[in-house]
Amino acid sequence: MNSKSSKPKHIIIIMDGNGRWAEQNGLTRSAGHKAGVKVLRNLIEHAVHLELKTLTVYAFSRENWQRPKKEVELLLDLFISSLESEVKDLHENNIKLNFIGETDKFSEKLKKSMSKSESLTSNNSKLTLNVALNYSGRWDVYKALLSIIDDMTAKKITKNDVDEELINTKLSLADYDEPDLLIRTGGEKRLSNYLLWQIAYTELYFTNTLWPDFNTDQFDLALDWYTKRQRRFGKTSEQIEKNKNA
Ligand code: IPE
Ligand code: IPE
Ligand code: MG
Repeated sequence: MNSKSSKPKHIIIIMDGNGRWAEQNGLTRSAGHKAGVKVLRNLIEHAVHLELKTLTVYAFSRENWQRPKKEVELLLDLFISSLESEVKDLHENNIKLNFIGETDKFSEKLKKSMSKSESLTSNNSKLTLNVALNYSGRWDVYKALLSIIDDMTAKKITKNDVDEELINTKLSLADYDEPDLLIRTGGEKRLSNYLLWQIAYTELYFTNTLWPDFNTDQFDLALDWYTKRQRRFGKTSEQIEKNKNA
């Protein structure tokens, strides 16, 4: 019998497929993105119900700036309006909101909305929702490297202090458990420059379901799949079984 993984502490999600969903339904891409926001809202509620601890969702990649200007503007406007309409509810449900990514690239209005939501919810403890906006996994590692170089130049640390643990502390999500489960909707089996360093031992779940069709039942299927994984971290199955029964 396989030893089973317990409930994931940290789930990361690549919410992909809004555009194709819209096309299949004869709608505009804008309608697809709006439907995507609704799905996220439902899943957050579900995650609270399941007592999950941390969700980290990819909302806008650094590469997404390359989309047509109109779509980029639409997405940025949607982030502002969604934040304004949802933050009160998130706060009332004891959810902490946190943004990761190069957020200084955004308009003053969006930045203000983001920092207001972060400070309003900063002491909440039920679930943390990290939203990756203008995020890139390579940027994350690059920024960690620069910070280490700065610390060395300022003689706060020496080369001997530089190890994996120190690098971890310099990355986005340093304060959270390592991601246990990655879910990508929309059929693509790639990472699209999402968390790279952090997913060294994450279980990867890919589904063809387009994000606006991803409902709580499908989320539960992903969780079921996860609980059947045997996470070995380099060890043998026998070692894992032995420890489990010890
Ligand atoms: C994901 O859906 C949302 C963002 C990237 C912002 P897409 O817009 O990538 O949808 P597809 O992949 O074109 O269907
Ligand atoms: C990844 O989706 C980014 C987000 C979900 C925000 P994309 O649709 O942009 O990824 P690629 O371009 O297909 O790799
Ligand atoms: Mg896509």
